[in-house]
Amino acid sequence: MELVNELQRFQFTRLARGAEARDGADVVAGLTSSPKTLPCKYFYDAAGSHLFEQICETPEYYPTRTERSILTRHAGDIAALTGPCEIVEFGSGTASKTRLLLDAYADGAKEVHFVPIDVSESVLRESSRDLVTRYAALSIRGFSGTYEQALAALHPAPAPARMFVFLGSTIGNFRNAERRAFVARIRDAMATGDYFLLGIDRRKDPAIIETAYNDSQGFTARFNLNILAHLNRRFHGNIVIDNFTHRAFYEPRRFQIEMWLESRVAQQAALADLGLSVGLARGESIRTEISKKFDPVDLAAEFTAMGLGQVALWSDHKQWFSLVLFRLEAKVDGGDGAAP
Ligand code: SAH
Ligand code: TRP
Repeated sequence: MELVNELQRFQFTRLARGAEARDGADVVAGLTSSPKTLPCKYFYDAAGSHLFEQICETPEYYPTRTERSILTRHAGDIAALTGPCEIVEFGSGTASKTRLLLDAYADGAKEVHFVPIDVSESVLRESSRDLVTRYAALSIRGFSGTYEQALAALHPAPAPARMFVFLGSTIGNFRNAERRAFVARIRDAMATGDYFLLGIDRRKDPAIIETAYNDSQGFTARFNLNILAHLNRRFHGNIVIDNFTHRAFYEPRRFQIEMWLESRVAQQAALADLGLSVGLARGESIRTEISKKFDPVDLAAEFTAMGLGQVALWSDHKQWFSLVLFRLEAKVDGGDGAAP
């Protein structure tokens, strides 16, 4: 853990480095399992983060602009419901939509505390520098590292409240059990009365969803393939990127988009630093991402069972995307305001 003071009102804690030296175990596990998989956090090196921004601007990728339209209309309502609070954001990225929230929370406030968490240090630094120059009342204490690392390092809940924010339907990138475990960890980090604001992509015509992950300019394909380039750079690999094809399709039984990299040829892929060399058959695929589409009623039931009550839900007029605000009703594990 290393504290970095960038500017007067922006400092961040670097959590990833130490762990990065040891990591790669998850890559080995993924590439030696059946089917082969890769952890999606490896999408986001500097090149991948930039490609993701380009995906968000394509006409096909509706989630970003739809979520932005909801925030544009309702950021004021959110701030009015929660009152002043510290904002902790998972996977903040460029924080371009977060600005709409910050506008609402900074309105008339003396000071607003923002805690961005992102595995991509370059994006965290650039966006935070920009934010402190734009918002005079903003003070940023970020974390560069994974969600789990940041949750473990997070300072105790501040007064009067904290709001965890998870936008972009990034929660859809977890599998069901992983999502429940993640939400439980957040719940455990919350104090009674804290909030959790979640962006979810909803079920709709599969053709619309599939198009969003197969944009005509090919940014999604490049983003998917960049995960291999990142592994090559990071672990001294020899993977031939051109030997793979991007595939994204909707799996209706699981209500999820699946992103795969299909091997065009029989080949061997090696990552020297990990001592790994795996064979791929022609037509064999590596799963790089899932993106679940939600029914907000089911999700609210899941959260309620974990002690998080739904306070409000906002959607666009087509009901393609929703923002849901949850609140921790009471600590269940005793000790912190739990009912006797
Ligand atoms: N919130 C933004 C970005 C979403 S993309 C939006 O809504 O558009 C997901 C972001 O999460 C990326 O910036 C990526 O670098 C970060 N990320 C992905 N996996 C992560 C992990 N395991 N821990 C921390 N950050 C992660
Ligand atoms: N959170 C985004 C989503 O589920 C991530 C994403 C968007 C993504 N486009 C992608 C992941 C393409 C892999 C490939 O929509």
